[in-house]
Amino acid sequence: MQPVTEASNDITQNIDVASPKEIVQLLCSCDVEIFDGWHGYPNIHSNEIIHTIGEIATAGVEILKDPSNNIIVLSGCGTSGRLAFILCRSFNKLLREQGMQECYEYVIAGGDKALFTSQEAPEDDPEAGIQALKQVSQGKRKVLFIGITCGLSAPFVAGQLDYCMDNLDKFTPVLLGFNPLNLARDLPIENWNKTFLQVTKRLEDLCQKHSDKCFILNPIVGPEAIRGSSRMKGGSVTKILLETIFTISHHIRDDKNQSLHIMVQSLLSAYRHVYEMTYSYMDDIAVMIQWAAESLNNNGHVYYIGVDSLATIGIIDASECPPTYSSSLEDIRGFIYGGYTTYKNKEGDISHHVSNGEPFNISINNFQENLIDQLACNDTVLFLLTYQDVCNENDSVTQLTKSILQYTKHIGAIYFTEPHNPSGNTDESTVLSYFKHVAMVTLPWHRIQETISPVFPTLSGTKLYEELRHFVGFLCEISLKWILNAISTGSHIMKGKIYKNLMIDVKVSNNKLYHRAISIIQKFAGCSLEEARCALIKSIYKTDTLTAEQGSAAISKHIDMATTMNKVVPAALLIAVRQCSVHEAIQILNDVKVVSKAILMSK
Ligand code: F6P
Repeated sequence: MQPVTEASNDITQNIDVASPKEIVQLLCSCDVEIFDGWHGYPNIHSNEIIHTIGEIATAGVEILKDPSNNIIVLSGCGTSGRLAFILCRSFNKLLREQGMQECYEYVIAGGDKALFTSQEAPEDDPEAGIQALKQVSQGKRKVLFIGITCGLSAPFVAGQLDYCMDNLDKFTPVLLGFNPLNLARDLPIENWNKTFLQVTKRLEDLCQKHSDKCFILNPIVGPEAIRGSSRMKGGSVTKILLETIFTISHHIRDDKNQSLHIMVQSLLSAYRHVYEMTYSYMDDIAVMIQWAAESLNNNGHVYYIGVDSLATIGIIDASECPPTYSSSLEDIRGFIYGGYTTYKNKEGDISHHVSNGEPFNISINNFQENLIDQLACNDTVLFLLTYQDVCNENDSVTQLTKSILQYTKHIGAIYFTEPHNPSGNTDESTVLSYFKHVAMVTLPWHRIQETISPVFPTLSGTKLYEELRHFVGFLCEISLKWILNAISTGSHIMKGKIYKNLMIDVKVSNNKLYHRAISIIQKFAGCSLEEARCALIKSIYKTDTLTAEQGSAAISKHIDMATTMNKVVPAALLIAVRQCSVHEAIQILNDVKVVSKAILMSK
């Protein structure tokens, strides 16, 4: 059986021919599975999952008792690592505000470069994972380790979990992912002696023996809207669960009498209110999808500009487009006021240390100095702002907006009003008047307050709001994540990048993607696994007759070759479907350009 995270979602079978508004409706129906679950599997509201969330939050409390000697490590690959980063950034800020030492550390496969571009090869390396974990936990007494891998598949995380299990006196390992445990990846990992499934089984056994020392958290949220794109539901549920866990850890530090079950339920319900509210802005999101699609279809760009954590969500969304849609690094980009000083990643400003610096130039100054003069009418610029941002950056946002308007009319804002007091003020309406379209998003604070107030019986009104300001920030971020995921996904769908609900032009840049590519070819060509594998390898080596060496080379060799190549999978698909030569397949792709059309014509 296929892992849930790699399956095709029935809901989105026709998303490739949907209008912008229909795309948002389909994403909404797909995202509700985060809360309602899928096919009767345990979901985020199931008792056992709520119990585990509470247990991990309690383990977090132990770490927070001594933040100078203990740490909480969040680790993952791609989007999972980027979310680890943003979560650590937020909780360290909370610790600073509470006068405590920072103790959250993120680890991302490939280092900080992977915050902005895909670095998929290190994801396959368990030893690299172990080394990164050793480095970050050196000299620490206790470590709560959260290994995030939506597909229960990343070798980088497998190595780390295994290392934690060898050192249980120091580490409390947690596996976070969204497949049933028996569907964890059971394929060999090169240069290692275990599969992910074996590591999972070892952890499961240990959880039974030491129920307070190891945890597995794996609610099932159904397949992704675009098959395998775990940045979407997988990323959202990762964010929701970890924010819930550590918000609780911070709040029960002093109050042990709290019912963990009620706390978890209440915070999760707040996210559901925000999910419902976000998709009620369907028409606004559809307008922005339309703009972004027009830009991408006319060789234009989409730029996200924001302040602080909303900008971070924008940068993350932009960074996911090249690996997900094989788009160029310039197509969608994100910028942040204050650049790296505000971004607060571990390695600091890395824009000068890398060869292709473009995606690493994230500061608004860079946008103003290098890009603004090149803006054209086919570009879209979206500002990502909260009420607070507009108060703090009023003049510069106004100036920038006026300058951009000289070049393009596609200038919009996703604007989060002050939820506690959404009536607005003059500053706000002046700034917003320059945008051609504003999605004015108001969190349903009253509903959220009703849901969470039993957890904080001594607080109400403004006091409750102030106490939970960081949580309100999380709610804005998840709402923005849903909106931007819809814009970037929708615009690429309208560019013809998707066939049914499948990204055919997937990059073959790591082991997981290699196997995904073969399964795509097999499904659409209706051929055997071996025929699909041969078609892929022929496409990678650009040959109709494979040598014995090519046919039997290690998967990592194929990946090394394929990583820098374009349209490897579409060509392989045509080879398999038409039984044609590599040359003919490439010729068709050159003539037709839009991959999904080329495949359709061949079926
Ligand atoms: O290999 C690339 C990728 O698919 C990313 O797009 C994704 O964010 C990452 O792997 C992480 O996957 P997982 O969370 O399942 O380990």
